[in-house]
Amino acid sequence: MSDLAHTLDAVRRGMIPANIYNDSEIFSLETERLFSRTWTFVAHESEIPQVGDYVVRRVLQDSFIVSRDQSGGINAMFNMCLHRGMQVCRAEQGNASHFRCPYHGWSYRNDGRIVGLPFHKEAYGGEEGFNKKGQRLVPAPALDTYNGLIFISLDDNAPPLREFLGDFAFYLDYYTKQSPSGIELRGPQKWRINANWKIGAENFAGDMYHTPQTHTSVVEIGLFREPKAEKRKDGNTYWAGRGGGTTYKLPPGDLEERLRYVGYPDEMIERMKQTWSAEQLDVIGRDGFMISAASLFPNMSFVHNWPRVEDSDDVLPFISLRQWVPISENETEVLSWFAVDAEAPQRFKDLSYKAYLMCFGSSGMFEQDDVENWVSLTTTAGGTMASRLLLNSRMGMHTDDSPVVAPLTSEEFAGPGVAHVGYGEYNQRHLLREWADHLEREPERPAPTEMGLAKTTANGSSAAAATNGAAVTA
Ligand code: FES
Ligand code: FE
Repeated sequence: MSDLAHTLDAVRRGMIPANIYNDSEIFSLETERLFSRTWTFVAHESEIPQVGDYVVRRVLQDSFIVSRDQSGGINAMFNMCLHRGMQVCRAEQGNASHFRCPYHGWSYRNDGRIVGLPFHKEAYGGEEGFNKKGQRLVPAPALDTYNGLIFISLDDNAPPLREFLGDFAFYLDYYTKQSPSGIELRGPQKWRINANWKIGAENFAGDMYHTPQTHTSVVEIGLFREPKAEKRKDGNTYWAGRGGGTTYKLPPGDLEERLRYVGYPDEMIERMKQTWSAEQLDVIGRDGFMISAASLFPNMSFVHNWPRVEDSDDVLPFISLRQWVPISENETEVLSWFAVDAEAPQRFKDLSYKAYLMCFGSSGMFEQDDVENWVSLTTTAGGTMASRLLLNSRMGMHTDDSPVVAPLTSEEFAGPGVAHVGYGEYNQRHLLREWADHLEREPERPAPTEMGLAKTTANGSSAAAATNGAAVTA
């Protein structure tokens, strides 16, 4: 068996070769076999509400301009000039009808179509020598949205986004659709940590076990109403489709009482009742589980929690979306957004933002606690001894692989997928099995797209456009 086959086999058994958290060859495989074909979140529609709005986001080294064009459409364009490859847009966000390349001045509309080449006639012989029609910045091979979340894939054979998400969409609604208007975002705050990208994704997917140890002080200073961090073991972890997460067990009560318990005002509760399905409401009202952190494969995470705010006994919920953007095998750029229901009262939005800042984001207490562990893990994983160590990620399984606790039945938990109460590394294993499935598939290498000078064909369209599928009608 090759080294890779050994690694993937061990991962599937819940025994993790420690070096997968800091290994340049593994990182090359992740670039080539995972991020080149999976769906990746790049932005939310509320970040580009107006015509001309744009943000620049990356999928590893590939930069994309995500724009709202003049007709209101959403585009994700590879941020590389068709001439000599300069990055066309250097700002992180803004509003523009056109983008002009800083190198020699080629300019593009905000839907990617090329409009101007300096000295077009003198340098290229005008339209005869260089027909601009049909030439545009290369669009992301696939783009789709769910609840306003914009995802792209670098693989034009990617399955439809909804199919990729699978039943995780059920849980995504708790974070991104609490009313018909959906969410609005603030941020992202961005920072870099010397940690491997997978660690954060695994942690948010299912690590309830770290809370009583890593975050004891946050609970002890009284930030939460619950007296003990051990309360986490009363919640469940669920996995459905391409994602999974953790929940807290709520005290007895009906739906309204339980949503009030975590700090939602009555008017928001009413909208949730009208927006969510009977099963989505049952998870909270009937079964008493409130969603907390979650991860969507490969590198997007969510958190929902309800700390005390303003020196009172009142708690207030917040939501954060985040992404672990890999920079290298041992460095990750964290993007952290605050999310809130667009229809929430302004006072709720303000206090919820404050709750988020206390817990997560660059000033958040949870964030500081977590990252110390992740950096230490990554550093140690880069050494010789780590390459010989299999880490134990088998919590929740006996040695014969039978589960320590039976999965919840549909009478106990109305959500789709598989859920277990108590501590277990079910979700970390699910996430890494997805990872292993991607890493074992040979990459397809699409032929380079012919860009730049296009030969004019008889019907006036460009040869490049005809072969790369990137054409739009000028
Ligand atoms: Fe963009 Fe030359 S590289 S105009
Ligand atoms: Fe944590």
